[in-house]
Amino acid sequence: MLGPVILAASRSDRMRRLISAAPVTKQVVDRFIPGETVDQIVPVVEELTGKGLELTMDVVGEDITRPEQAAAARDAYLRLVDRIKDLELGERVEMSVKLSMFGQALEGGHELALANVRPVVEAAAAIGTTVTLDAEDHTTLDSMFAIHEELRKDFPQTGCVIQAYLFRTEADARRLAGNGSRVRLVKGAYKEPAEVAFQQKREIDKAYVRILRILMEGTGYPMIGSHDPRLISVAQELARRAGRKLDEYEFQMLYGIRSDEHLRLAAEGHRMRVYTAYGTDWYGYFMRRLAEKPANLRFFVRSMVSK
Ligand code: FDA
Repeated sequence: MLGPVILAASRSDRMRRLISAAPVTKQVVDRFIPGETVDQIVPVVEELTGKGLELTMDVVGEDITRPEQAAAARDAYLRLVDRIKDLELGERVEMSVKLSMFGQALEGGHELALANVRPVVEAAAAIGTTVTLDAEDHTTLDSMFAIHEELRKDFPQTGCVIQAYLFRTEADARRLAGNGSRVRLVKGAYKEPAEVAFQQKREIDKAYVRILRILMEGTGYPMIGSHDPRLISVAQELARRAGRKLDEYEFQMLYGIRSDEHLRLAAEGHRMRVYTAYGTDWYGYFMRRLAEKPANLRFFVRSMVSK
C-alpha cells in the first residue's frame, strides 16, 4: 500500500525539497543513478558495454515549467550524443527521452516537444543509433504517440513505450505491432486512476502477457522492459513460438536492479539493454524506484536513521 503514497510524493514540491536535501539521500540515489554529468557517465557506458550489455541513456528530468528548460534538456542529450560518438558503439547505446522534459506540458507543448526532440533523434541517427520515447502518465500519451508517428516518417527506428496497466494498451499494441515499430513494453510506473488502469498486480501481469503476445506475433521489434522472472520466461517462450531469433527482440532492465540477471541473459546470447539514468534532477525517477519495491524505502529510511 506504500507504493501509491510514494508516487503521490513524487509529484510534491515540498517532498522534493525535503528528500533532495537529506544528507544520506545521495548515497542511496547512486544505486540507481550512477552519475550526474556526462564526464561521470561515459566510464559507466564503457564499463557496461565492455561486459556485453547494451544501454539506453536517460538524462533525468521531467515536469519542467519554462521553455528554456526544454531547450536545456535537448542540449543535454546533444552533448551526450556528441560524447558517445567517439566510442563508436552505434545502436548498442541508444537514448530514452521523456517528452515532458522537452516541454510537452507547456503552452503549445506538443509542437514544442516535437521541435526539441527532433534534433536529438537526428543526432542519434547520425551516429548510427536511435531514440525511444518513454511513456509518462496517461494524459500525455496521445501526444506521445502522435510525435512517435511523426518522427518515424523520417526515422523509422524511433521507438516508444507502452504500459501494460492501462486499458488502452492492447489496442495501442495492435496498431504498433502491425506497423513494424520498436516497442518497449513495461508494467507502468505512475499513479493512475481505476477508470483507466488495472490496479492489481495479478491483472497487470496478465495484461502484460496478452500484450507481449501481440508484439511477438507482429512485425515490429519487441523490447521487454521488466525485471519480473516469470515474465522473462514467458517472453522467451513467446519469442520461440513466434519463431523469433535472438536478435529479433531484446530484454531491458533498469540500472541497479537485478544486475546479475543482466549479465546472465547477455551470456545466454540475448540482447540485454540497461536503462541508465544520469543527471541532477533525479527526484521523480528515484521516487518511482522506491515505489516499485517497499524494501528500497526501508533501506532508504534505515540509512537516514543510522547516519
Ligand atoms: P515488478 O515490479 O513485479 O518487479 C519484479 C521484480 O523485480 C521484483 O520482485 C524485484 O525483485 C525487482 N524490482 C522491480 N523493481 C524494483 C526496484 N525499483 N528496486 C529493486 N528491485 C526491483 N515505466 C513507465 O511508466 N514508463 C516508462 O517509460 C518506463 N520505462 C522503463 C524502462 C525499462 C528498461 C524498465 C525495466 C522499466 C521501465 N518502466 C517504465 C518502469 C516499469 O513500468 C515498472 O515500474 C518497473 O519495471 C517495475 O516492474 P517490473 O516489470 O520489473 O515488475
